Amino acid sequence: MRVNASAGSKRARSPETRGGVTVVVLAAGKGVRMNSKIPKVLHPVAGRPMLLWSMAAARALDPERTLVVTNPAQDGVQAALDGEGQTVPQRDQLGTGHALAQVSAEHRTTGPVIVIYADTPLLRGETLLQLVKEHGKSGAAVTLLTARVDDPRGYGRIVRARNGVFRSIVEEKDATDGEREILEVNSGVYCFTGRELWPALLKLENKNRAGEYYLTDVVKLIKGKVNTMAVSDPMEILGINDRRQLAQAEAAMRRRILERLMHDGVTITDPSTTFVDADVQVGRDTVIHPFSVVTGETTVGEDCVIGPFAQVRDSIIGDGCRIERAHLEKATLASNVLIGPFSRLRPGSMLDEGVRVGTHAEIKNSHIGAGTAIAHFSAVLDSDVGANANIGAGTVTANYDGQAKHRTEIGDRAQVGSDTILVAPVTVGHDAYTAAGSVITQDVPAGSLAIERSDQKIVEGWTARKRGRKTEVGKP
Ligand code: UD1
Ligand code: CA
Repeated sequence: MRVNASAGSKRARSPETRGGVTVVVLAAGKGVRMNSKIPKVLHPVAGRPMLLWSMAAARALDPERTLVVTNPAQDGVQAALDGEGQTVPQRDQLGTGHALAQVSAEHRTTGPVIVIYADTPLLRGETLLQLVKEHGKSGAAVTLLTARVDDPRGYGRIVRARNGVFRSIVEEKDATDGEREILEVNSGVYCFTGRELWPALLKLENKNRAGEYYLTDVVKLIKGKVNTMAVSDPMEILGINDRRQLAQAEAAMRRRILERLMHDGVTITDPSTTFVDADVQVGRDTVIHPFSVVTGETTVGEDCVIGPFAQVRDSIIGDGCRIERAHLEKATLASNVLIGPFSRLRPGSMLDEGVRVGTHAEIKNSHIGAGTAIAHFSAVLDSDVGANANIGAGTVTANYDGQAKHRTEIGDRAQVGSDTILVAPVTVGHDAYTAAGSVITQDVPAGSLAIERSDQKIVEGWTARKRGRKTEVGKP
C-alpha cells in the first residue's frame, strides 16, 4: 500500500456545498515584505507553491467554480495553476476589496462565495467545509473565520461589543492601542452569501475613491447578520507576509506531512531532521532515518530504509530498497536495490531488482540489469549493463569525446576488471572479461577476455641501486 503524504483528496459533494459554491482565491498582491524577485504566492511550502495549497484546500468544497485573482504583471502564476481555476486579472493592486471586485458580473452568483487569501497555505479543506456548513446553519450574510493567536501583529483584529457581539475588523494600522491588545484576529477566510456580498462590494468601490479598498470594510457595509467561526488550530490561518513566516509555515507543514506518514505506517526516527515534500508517497514499514530529504514527485515503496543522510528527488524507489548517504535525482529503482554510502544517481538511472551500488559511484542515463554490482568508485554514464555483471572498482565509461556522448554496452554476467576505461561507443559481450587496468577501445566478444596493458617488468635490486649501497633489500 502506498500512502500519499498530501491532504485534500477529491470527495463527493457534501450537503453543505450542494447547489454550488464559488471560491475566490486572492493571489495578486505585491508581496513587498517578502523582498523577492518572484511572486509571493509562488514561494514553495513543503515543495508546493503556496497558491497551490490554497487551491487544494478549495477542492475540498467541490466548488462550482474557482476564480483566482492574479496580477498580470507577475510571471509564472498562470503556469503554476496548470489549468486549474479561472484567472481574473487585477491590474492595479488596490487592496483585497478591490481584488474581489475584479470578479465579473457573470460570476457574481447569489449562493455561497468563499474568499481565501493565497498566502495562507496551512488552511485545511476540512475547515472550509465546516465554515460553509456553519454559514448555512446561521443564515448570516457573512461568516468570518477567526483565530485566537498569541501574537496578533500584522492581522486585522476582531472587535466585539461587551456582550461579545461582533462589531468590526480593524486593521493594525488603524487600530487604537486598546484594539491592538485583542488576540482574536481575522484569518482572511470568509464565507459570504452572494446575494448580500456583491451589493456591499459596490458600495465599497463607490465609497473609497482613493487609496486602498479593504475587504474587511465590506463586512461593515453588508446587509444582514455577521457570524464568526473560530478555527481550533490557530496555525491554520498563518498568513505568509515575510520569510520568517514562510519558515514557520514550512516547519508546520513538514510536521503535518510527517505525522500523516507516521499515522499511515512509516517510521520517522527523527522528525526534526527529516524533510518530506507534500507529493511524496511512502509505503508501509519503510524507515526514514535522520538527515534525509525526500522531495518532488518521489514514490518510495514498502520496507525500505532511507538514510541516514539520503537526498532523493523526483525518483521512484521499489520495495525493500536501502539508500544510505546517497544523492538520487530522477532515478528509478526496482525492488531490493542497495545504494551507498556516498553514491550519486543522476537523471535517467534505471536499476533493476537487487542491484548493488556501493561507495563513490556515479550513474547517469544508464540501465543496470538485475543483480549487477557496482560496488566501489566507478562512473557508469550513458550505459546499458546486463544482469549479474560485476563492475570492478574504478571503472569508467568514457562517454564523451569532446563533441558527442556515446553509449557503452556491457552484457550479462560480464566481469569488468578494476580500473577499466571503456571508451564509448564500445560493447563488452555476455560473459566477457576485461583485465584490470585496461583501456578498452574495441568491442569485446562474448565469453572472451580483453587485456590492454604492457607486460610487467621487474628490475631487480632497484632499491639498493637507488641508495647507492650494496645492502640487500629487506635487511638492515
Ligand atoms: C489581510 C487582512 C487582515 C487579515 C490578514 C490575514 C485586509 C485589508 N486585511 O491583511 O485583516 O488579518 O490578511 O492574513 O484584507 N491581494 C490581492 N490584491 C491586492 C492586495 C492583496 O490579490 O490588491 C491578495 C494577496 O496576494 C494576499 C491577500 O490578498 O494573498 C492578502 O493580502 P495582504 O496584503 O497579505 O493582506 P494582509 O496585510 O496580510
Ligand atoms: Ca497576508
